[in-house]
Amino acid sequence: MTLTRDTSTTDTSTTGMSTIDLLSARRSVGPNFLAGPGPSPVQLDTLLRIASRVPDHGKLAPWRFIVFEGEARDKAGEVIARLYAQDNPDADEGRCAAERTRLSRAPLVVGVVSRAAAHPKIPDWEQVLSAGAACMNLVTAAHAQGFAAAWHTEWYAYDRRVLAAFGLSPQERMAGFVHIGTAASPPPDRPRPALEEIVTRFG
Ligand SMILES: Cc1cc2nc3c(=O)[nH]c(=O)nc-3n(C[C@H](O)[C@H](O)[C@H](O)COP(=O)(O)O)c2cc1C
Repeated sequence: MTLTRDTSTTDTSTTGMSTIDLLSARRSVGPNFLAGPGPSPVQLDTLLRIASRVPDHGKLAPWRFIVFEGEARDKAGEVIARLYAQDNPDADEGRCAAERTRLSRAPLVVGVVSRAAAHPKIPDWEQVLSAGAACMNLVTAAHAQGFAAAWHTEWYAYDRRVLAAFGLSPQERMAGFVHIGTAASPPPDRPRPALEEIVTRFG
């Protein structure tokens, strides 16, 4: 499979694959294997619009996005590394350095924040699921633009000190960090569950 990317600033065109082929072949590429280039500003705008175009019971927009790009990725990494070193005083410098690069391995990272909150009609569960849908739309759209992506959380997605430094209120949760960039080569697929193990027919 050859992925081609349109690098123009006005056109966010795709791999040229059919939607079904794209969805059938897509797989994640971890942050360590995502190099530049990343999405252009116009492409990022498209990605964020698509991420916010998900089923949303009650039209609550129970999610929001934090973009980590350029030097801000290093600033975010400093927060992660500082807290990691504080909690792990015996950690060697190599490990702390790796923590520092958590959000700067890929050229672009989008934090998807769940804003799920108590509502008289819409269960919290449904609001959280909508944030998951936003994450997946982001991953799929990035692939459709010819990039590769991975939806990761890691420890810092659950650390309230990190989240506070990233601007989350105590009620908000991080649904995930979507790392986006260019893969050197298409990754091999991983085993997928056999349909007969996960599908039943009622009746
Ligand atoms: C909510 C969520 C959080 C995840 N967090 C991580 C993570 O922190 N680290 C990791 O290696 N994979 C994580 N994954 C798994 C990857 O996103 C992905 O499922 C895996 O790399 C295989 O992806 P693929 O089936 O799209 O190829 C997470 C997945 C989900 C749904």
